[in-house]
Amino acid sequence: SVMAELAGISDMAKALKEKLGVRDVVIVPGDSDQTFWVQRDMGRATVARLKRELSSSVHNTIAVTGGTTMASVAAMMSPDKENRPMTFVPARGGLGETLELQANTVCSRMASRAQSDYHLLHIPDMVSKETFVKMVEEPSIKNVLQMIKDASIVVHGIGEAKTMAKRRRASAELLEQLEQEHAVAEAFGYYFDRDGKIVHRVKTVGLQLDDLKQVEHVIVVAGGHSKAEAINAYVKQSPDIILITDEGAATTILKG
Ligand code: F6P
Repeated sequence: SVMAELAGISDMAKALKEKLGVRDVVIVPGDSDQTFWVQRDMGRATVARLKRELSSSVHNTIAVTGGTTMASVAAMMSPDKENRPMTFVPARGGLGETLELQANTVCSRMASRAQSDYHLLHIPDMVSKETFVKMVEEPSIKNVLQMIKDASIVVHGIGEAKTMAKRRRASAELLEQLEQEHAVAEAFGYYFDRDGKIVHRVKTVGLQLDDLKQVEHVIVVAGGHSKAEAINAYVKQSPDIILITDEGAATTILKG
C-alpha cells in the first residue's frame, strides 16, 4: 500500500542519514535514472525543504548551481506563501555547460517562478588572465560575488566525474588525469575521488568549497542509482548537508 511504502521510505531515510552522517535526508520514491518524473519529485521535495529553511528575519540569499536536476528544482519552484524576501544568485561562474544547464539559467528561472529577485554572473568561460582580473573588479560583478559569499542557503547538484567531464567537453588530458586520480564525483566545479579528496577543480569565480562551511543551509539534490558512488564520495568531505535523493540512489548506497 502507499502508506507502507511511505513508512519504508522514511525508515530508509533514517538509515541513510546515519550511514552518511549528514544533517538530514529526504528520499522520494523511484529511480530518476529509470523514470523521468522522479527527478521532478526530487525538485518538488527540494522546493519544500528550501521553504522550510527560509528565514523570516533576514534577507534570504540563495546560491544555486546548474544541471538537469537543478533545472527540475527550478521547474517546481513556486512563490513563498509567507512572502519572505529571496534573492537568487548563481553559485559559480561558467563551468562549460550548455546555456540550458548553466547556473545563470537555472537561477533566473527559479527566481521568476518564485516571483523574487535574482542577479546573474556575466563572465565568459574562456578569457585571458588579464581580462579576468579586470572583470572581477567590475562593480556589478564584484557585487554579485559578494552576494554569493554571503549566501545563507546553497542548493547544488552532484554528478559522476566522468559524465560531467565529458558533458563539459573536457580535454583528453583532463579526462586522463581524472581517470588516473580515480575521480568519481563532481560538484560546482570540484572533482573528488571516492574518499572525498579533491583531485581537480575548474578555475572560476564564485563559491569555493571552503566557503560552504560558512553557509547556514546546504541542500544537495542528486538521485538515480548511477550517482550512488558520487553522493557517497561527496558527503565524505561535506557531511553537514541536507540531502534530497531518490530511492534508486538510496538503495544502492545502503547496499554498498
Ligand atoms: O554543472 C553543474 C552541475 O551542478 C554539476 O556541478 C553537477 O555535477 C551536475 O551539474 C549535475 O548535473 P545533472 O543534475 O544533470 O546530473
